[in-house]
Amino acid sequence: MSVAMKQTVSGRASHSALAAFFCVAAVVAAGPASAGGEPLPSGTSFLTQSLQAQQSDEATNPGMLWISEGALIWQTPDGASGASCATCHGDAGTSMKGVAASYPKVYGKTGELLNLEKRINLCRTSQQNAEPYAYESDPLLALTAFIARQSLGQPINVQIDDASRAFYERGKAMFYRRQGQLNLSCAQCHEALAGKQLRGDTISYGVGNGYPAYRLEWQTLGSLHRRLRSCSYGVRARRFEFGSPEYLSLELFLAVRAQGVPVETPAIRR
Ligand code: HEC
Ligand code: HEC
Repeated sequence: MSVAMKQTVSGRASHSALAAFFCVAAVVAAGPASAGGEPLPSGTSFLTQSLQAQQSDEATNPGMLWISEGALIWQTPDGASGASCATCHGDAGTSMKGVAASYPKVYGKTGELLNLEKRINLCRTSQQNAEPYAYESDPLLALTAFIARQSLGQPINVQIDDASRAFYERGKAMFYRRQGQLNLSCAQCHEALAGKQLRGDTISYGVGNGYPAYRLEWQTLGSLHRRLRSCSYGVRARRFEFGSPEYLSLELFLAVRAQGVPVETPAIRR
């Protein structure tokens, strides 16, 4: 699945990350500093107007290809059960509306923290009797994006409860811990420096409401965990595996912090 896209190649990651990092210059007035009252601004508000327009136009948003693919997979029987997602869940526009906005979530039967990708794979293995999809594979991205699309415009609504509190605390600690050779925490960029320029990007508040997102640098759709791996790499810290407990906890913290921000999947990002 590839799309010919015009993109600017200026501002590629430089090797002197530290030097670039300290050359930050204010361009956009920073918005609210925390999720106390107002929801955080979406990453979309830091894009150029033309990218914002492309994102909101279904005819030109390249991520819509994955939404169509996801709609197709939804209807297609698979696995030993011979069932499709639709066999059990019917019309996704009804059954999946608002679902993505409530993830990640602790699965009651096992106490495991599931993001949407893991929840889909749980249905693959336990309901369809099919093989789980590989993380970051096209079918999993397509189904995840398709389900998230059914929550378009719905506010993220993820609660902390007794079952999820320990995961949340782990994610929160990771967000505020200094990491990597650059010794920077997520918060130093996504709270203190939001609105500032870094290597051609405007740093946002680090909200996951647009994922899976089409990133121009990737030339494809990618998951939130792929984006987190880029950030870990950016500060020369350890990159955890896709679907790792570390990124799942971080994803939960980010979602709680992004309470009220509307879902925008598939977002376009530089
Ligand atoms: C045989 C029936 C069956 C099939 C086939 C099936 N599911 Fe499910 N699905 C369920 C049931 C039952 C639940 C609630 C399960 C539970 O609590 O364990 C569920 C839950 C879910 C949820 C979580 C909903 C929520 O509100 O948290 C998602 C997302 C989901 N399924 C997606 C899919 C996708 C995508 C497919 C196809 C790849 C699929 N399912 C195939 C029966 C099915
Ligand atoms: C050196 C600064 C820096 C650090 C540290 C950093 N990031 Fe990022 N992050 C960026 C930049 C630059 C982008 C791309 C522009 C944007 O959307 O903010 C980005 C993007 C993101 C996005 C995607 C936002 C969107 O709307 O597409 C998320 C989520 C995110 N970061 C989370 C994190 C987390 C969690 C950590 C800590 C593990 C972290 N970042 C560490 C600079 C940083």
